[in-house]
Amino acid sequence: MLEKIQQLLAEVETLQAHSAEELEALRIKYLSKKGSISALMNDFRSVPAEQKKEVGIKINELKTRAFDKINALRAEFAQTDSADDDIDITRTAYPTPLGTRHPLTIVKNEIVDIFSRLGFSLAEGPEVEDDWHVFGSMNFADDHPARDMQDTFFIEARPDVILRTHTSSVQSRVMEKTQPPIRIICPGRVYRNEAISARAHCFFHQVEGLYVDKEVSFTDLKQVLLLFAREMFGEGTQIRLRPSYFPFTEPSAEMDISCNICGGTGCAFCKHTGWVEILGCGMVDPAVLQLNGIDPTKYKGYAFGMGVERIANLKYQVKDLRMFSENDMRFLREFEAAN
Ligand code: PHE
Repeated sequence: MLEKIQQLLAEVETLQAHSAEELEALRIKYLSKKGSISALMNDFRSVPAEQKKEVGIKINELKTRAFDKINALRAEFAQTDSADDDIDITRTAYPTPLGTRHPLTIVKNEIVDIFSRLGFSLAEGPEVEDDWHVFGSMNFADDHPARDMQDTFFIEARPDVILRTHTSSVQSRVMEKTQPPIRIICPGRVYRNEAISARAHCFFHQVEGLYVDKEVSFTDLKQVLLLFAREMFGEGTQIRLRPSYFPFTEPSAEMDISCNICGGTGCAFCKHTGWVEILGCGMVDPAVLQLNGIDPTKYKGYAFGMGVERIANLKYQVKDLRMFSENDMRFLREFEAAN
């Protein structure tokens, strides 16, 4: 019996297989229930008691060796197989070209980010709007010139359906559904019927802000805008508010920041004034609260709206507005690092 085991051990060491079928045949010959090792196990019963221990150990050794050898042959096959497929799994993958974010997206995200840190939450509304949300609910008189054909895109068959001319429509969309406190920041695209040139486009982007609560003051507005300007353009940035007029705010103001291109000393960008206008703002007109279902005797609010292209121009000095919508890869790739 020991001799037989020894012989099988030697045999197992020299096993070779040239195909999967040959390997399977070897497995059956040695390791299956009807294989030679199982046969040995059956004969084990007739081994004299004093030899049982030694024979048992040897059979086990043979079994392990046969098992290992057949597995090793299988592993060799697996490797040869992938080589046959001509795939070199050790090669590095081709680099995937990275896309770039659009500069307006980068700037919009930055604006939204600053205001979210101040507790403003994101709100959005439709670009295709109705006259009520764009003008009526924002306290524009029926004969206000902003409704004029020259500014607003109308849809011929449906005079009530328009492309929004400002994101202030989102103020109304939120107020009609929500009671204060309301603190929202609303980015979006707006449309105006303008001839396309380096300085004007028929669509551009705005970010609107609205805060309505019991105690809201002009000081709060000014403080939030100062903080925004410094986060966006740097610690040393100054702001200046000039009285202005919007139908939906009273009092109203336009805000300038110290020109961050020349640092306020005067350059072509700021037309040598040292200041550049970046947004409109004011205290929400009580009439607007009333029109949108909020009690003006209980609540007050402030609102502001800024042009994203304008802020992007200040940050990146893009001289021609058309660059933002032409999708010229040479221009877009400039912003790879700003992602
Ligand atoms: N909607 C104004 C515009 O488009 C900006 C603005 C928003 C002004 C909110 C005051 C308050 O010019």
